[in-house]
Amino acid sequence: MNRLFLCGLLSTFIFFADNLFAQHQINMLPAPVQVEKGNGFFQISEETVISVENEEQESLAADFADLFTVPAGFTPSVEIGAANAAVSLITDRDLKKEAYRLEVSENSIRMYASEGSGFFYAFQTLRLLLPSEIEGTALANQEWKIPVVNIKDEPRFGYRSMMLDVARCFIPKEEVLRMVDCMAMLKLNTLHLHLSDDTGWRLEIKKYPRLTEVGAWRVDRGNLPFYARLNQQEGEKATLGGFYTQDDMAEIVAYAMDRRITVIPEIDVPAHSCAALAAYPELACPVVKDKITVLPGLGGRNPEMLYCAGNEKVFAFLQDVIDELLQLFPSPYINMGGDEATKTYWKVCPLCQKRMQEEYLKEVEDLQGYFMGRLNDYIRSKGRILMGWDELTNSQLPEGAVILGWQGLGNAALKAADKGLDFVMTPARILYLIRYQGPQWFEPLTYFGNNTMRGVYDYEPVQADWKPEYEKHLLGVQASMWTEFCSTAADVTYMVFPRLAALAEVAWSPKGAKNWEHFQLGLDNYLAHLEKKGMVYAKSMYNIQHTVMPENGKLRVKLECERTDVKIRYTLDGREPDMCSLVYTEPLSLEKGITLRCASFVGDMRKGEILTLSLSDNKATGKPVLGANPRTTLLTNGVRGSLRQSDFEWCTWDNLSSATFTVDLQRVESIHKVVLGCLTNYGMAVHKPKNLTVEISEDNRRFTQVGQREFSEEAIFRNGNYVEDVTFTFDKRKARYVRVTAKGFGACPAYHYMRPGQPARYYFDEIQVE
Ligand code: ACM
Ligand code: ZN
Repeated sequence: MNRLFLCGLLSTFIFFADNLFAQHQINMLPAPVQVEKGNGFFQISEETVISVENEEQESLAADFADLFTVPAGFTPSVEIGAANAAVSLITDRDLKKEAYRLEVSENSIRMYASEGSGFFYAFQTLRLLLPSEIEGTALANQEWKIPVVNIKDEPRFGYRSMMLDVARCFIPKEEVLRMVDCMAMLKLNTLHLHLSDDTGWRLEIKKYPRLTEVGAWRVDRGNLPFYARLNQQEGEKATLGGFYTQDDMAEIVAYAMDRRITVIPEIDVPAHSCAALAAYPELACPVVKDKITVLPGLGGRNPEMLYCAGNEKVFAFLQDVIDELLQLFPSPYINMGGDEATKTYWKVCPLCQKRMQEEYLKEVEDLQGYFMGRLNDYIRSKGRILMGWDELTNSQLPEGAVILGWQGLGNAALKAADKGLDFVMTPARILYLIRYQGPQWFEPLTYFGNNTMRGVYDYEPVQADWKPEYEKHLLGVQASMWTEFCSTAADVTYMVFPRLAALAEVAWSPKGAKNWEHFQLGLDNYLAHLEKKGMVYAKSMYNIQHTVMPENGKLRVKLECERTDVKIRYTLDGREPDMCSLVYTEPLSLEKGITLRCASFVGDMRKGEILTLSLSDNKATGKPVLGANPRTTLLTNGVRGSLRQSDFEWCTWDNLSSATFTVDLQRVESIHKVVLGCLTNYGMAVHKPKNLTVEISEDNRRFTQVGQREFSEEAIFRNGNYVEDVTFTFDKRKARYVRVTAKGFGACPAYHYMRPGQPARYYFDEIQVE
């Protein structure tokens, strides 16, 4: 009792001390260029008048004033040319576009900008300086105080974007609007909507009604992960989906424009087009004989179906679609995709081949250059600019196009810069929000590895080895939210927030001005605003990532939390960690067989999930693994993997045709059993190897085979996601070294319904020796 009381008192004190510290800064993101904080507050009340100079300012000020109506129970008034108003907007022609100055004293607020977007951002700054209750939907008993401060601010980049994939997961209009408002608070100015893919066509096109009658709907595979969803079968109904009517889209565009956000439409061609081709199959190459359906998931080979590049009707169709886009979207950019087009059919289609001959095109890749070039000519003739993914650099680059660098670190876009084109960076390895944002065991299932918020925050798009001209062609940065693993808008916002706040910092704040500790405070303020708006967001930043390494028969355990303002507390007796548990300060050296439980705490509040590591205990645990692959340390670290091969507990090899590792038990032991944990995840092409051999030795030179297992093709490609412990038992033998050799199957067979022809990969999490 006493211990608990004292411990509580101490953490309360620390909590208040932290808060006092926080009061001396403004907790704002993206971090403004220059901030001078004073003392005291300006209080907004029902007497407050906002003086504006013109109708545009009036509209911006009215939107700000409207924030107060419900939570404050009053609405500050807005008047053009009001005398003696406490709040005033003043045009300053010397400020750049989007820049603003803000002077808050106890008696007045002066806002300066050269045009509307600058004033809009000044209002967003005020909004984030107000109590978060300003976002609430009920009357709040609150003083509406803004700290005395002078701010000078302007963005680093003119293109500050989020891409939202509404094709994999249709996001209802109202939810898109809510996300747009949350983007606006972050001073982002571009929303790229990925409106079509194999999985759905999401925009009404008046001339082609089947695009939404057919293309917006797919068969519902319920909770199955994207990579495990079988294509639509004969007789099955397509019931899942939705689309935006043109009226809906006009509303989204106008709502975004009010918030100084440009909506860029993307219609992805020539691939990612099964939804459109399901509606109008005559636009595919005539060599395609299979029925084309909207895909519920990965689709096996179906994504290889492309618009036929030899068919004039395809270009007429796409120009008609573009015509309707031009009417709906005032954006200077029209995005036509261009990514991941596998030209299987183009290679054999007589129309495509004829086109290549007529146009003197040597490679099918050049045919895509031709295809995109024609769309570019059309879009340019209408006074707009074509945007596309970085595969456009694989052939003739469309004149004047803007390229999105996405593959890996996005460097393919530099090929476009070499040709004098502008580009935007949205590298998959850093800015794809589909990836895990925190320790994977606590996250909803998704693809690939981790793109943490810290990783996004630390991203510097301008690399030291760039040619100087690249920087001038870099328009900005984009976070890309692909929604394969989302079923609801809340699933999407969970992935987007808070990482989008880190992206905003990269996009807006000056180069080299980053301060993670300060960012965290600004983030908490922003998240408080999101919370009051009822937005779902992730708290993954409070979860703990473990790294466990074998070390002389023990286990070295490293614990990390993305938040640097927490304490990690742990127990070794199986109990839940609490505010009095041991504080983690440096890597622990633990005996095998122990259960470690840990979590992050702020004061007496547990902030994250409890991580439980039950370290196994067998003769291999903690022992070194000999072999060239550094990942093999995972095999004896005492920690089992989850069903996700990407969770950092699974070991795989670059060369899968044959892989070998040897466990050194560090002394001669009597052993009779070896068990190898082996993962299957069918949709991810994770399968057992073709065979496994176990050999033992006392001297690491002469080995004796004690087990061998050959897996049938049927056993290897059994569907599902499961861990199999492959067990080898033998008569008791003396051995110090245990050598395992795996031989891979090779490519997944043609009947593999998700990844035919792709390499089948094997993964092991742990070797147990008894
Ligand atoms: C992409 O991720 N395929 C652009
Ligand atoms: Zn064709």
